[in-house]
Amino acid sequence: MTGRLEGKIVAITGAASGFGEAAAIRFVAEGAKVVLGDIQEDAGKKVAEGLGDAARFVSCNVTREEEVANLVDTAVTEFGQLDVMYNNAGIVGAAGPIATTVTDEWKFTIDILLNGVFYGCKHAARVMIPRGRGSIVSMSSTAGIMGGLGPHAYATAKHGVIGLTKNIACELAQHGIRANAISPAGMATPMVAALRGDPTAIEETKKGLAASSPLKGRAGVADDVVNAALWLASDESGYTSGHTLTTDAGLTIGSANATPFEEYQPIIREAGKRGMDD
Ligand SMILES: NC(=O)c1ccc[n+]([C@@H]2O[C@H](COP(=O)([O-])OP(=O)(O)OC[C@H]3O[C@@H](n4cnc5c(N)ncnc54)[C@H](O)[C@@H]3O)[C@@H](O)[C@H]2O)c1
Repeated sequence: MTGRLEGKIVAITGAASGFGEAAAIRFVAEGAKVVLGDIQEDAGKKVAEGLGDAARFVSCNVTREEEVANLVDTAVTEFGQLDVMYNNAGIVGAAGPIATTVTDEWKFTIDILLNGVFYGCKHAARVMIPRGRGSIVSMSSTAGIMGGLGPHAYATAKHGVIGLTKNIACELAQHGIRANAISPAGMATPMVAALRGDPTAIEETKKGLAASSPLKGRAGVADDVVNAALWLASDESGYTSGHTLTTDAGLTIGSANATPFEEYQPIIREAGKRGMDD
């Protein structure tokens, strides 16, 4: 199926790499026009140039409210409207034990991962409310659902993204605007490859993730998240709001801890009895 975003105008933060770049390419293939924002100017411009007339790049640091506002306004001035805001930009951020977490690193992380999403939601709502329609999609993480899956600041911000998404979904429903989040597990993007030593080593990262994946032999890849974002961005998800869509092979419902059921076992009953014979 193509044309799933025909006529839609989409703004994407963190669009120079990983999920943001892959989403830009796919969304345009599905009929959208996109405004791409990132702090990596050369890489972001290259992505936009590859998409021709359907894309614009603007320099956008999500910690600066005026730059996020400008990203949104560029969608309106260049393409006439904003249908979808994809709050995607992110970093891993402050890492290590809580007792040694550097406060400035904590604040820097929260500023990008949570305040940046707030600015995106705020300014998207500003232009979507008068039109009475729109879809806001924000990146959370499995670390935003369960404890123990990421650094403290990252987990805190990603939990915050889910909270913000639910709350604005409640408010914006009356204006015909939906808000949803996506929570991936570790996926083979430059961010995760960099954690393993080389941001360009995507194939190696895939092999490593596949080996530890709860879904036998299958690594999570950028397209898995892009497919989720595409559905949430499109009218196909028109009655879904406030939802967190996982792309995690069931990690957050316990798939990594499952006990294998290998053969039939007689029913286990009261007082140690087994079977249905009496
Ligand atoms: N890759 C994963 O396994 C994974 C899992 C769960 C959630 N996520 C989330 O998905 C999002 C994208 O991650 P990715 O894996 O594609 O990472 P990535 O590193 O490939 O891309 C992130 C992009 O965000 C940009 N960025 C960083 N700081 C910025 C800022 N202040 N302003 C604007 N842009 C900025 C970077 O320049 C980069 O282009 C992030 O929010 C991340 O937390 C990723």
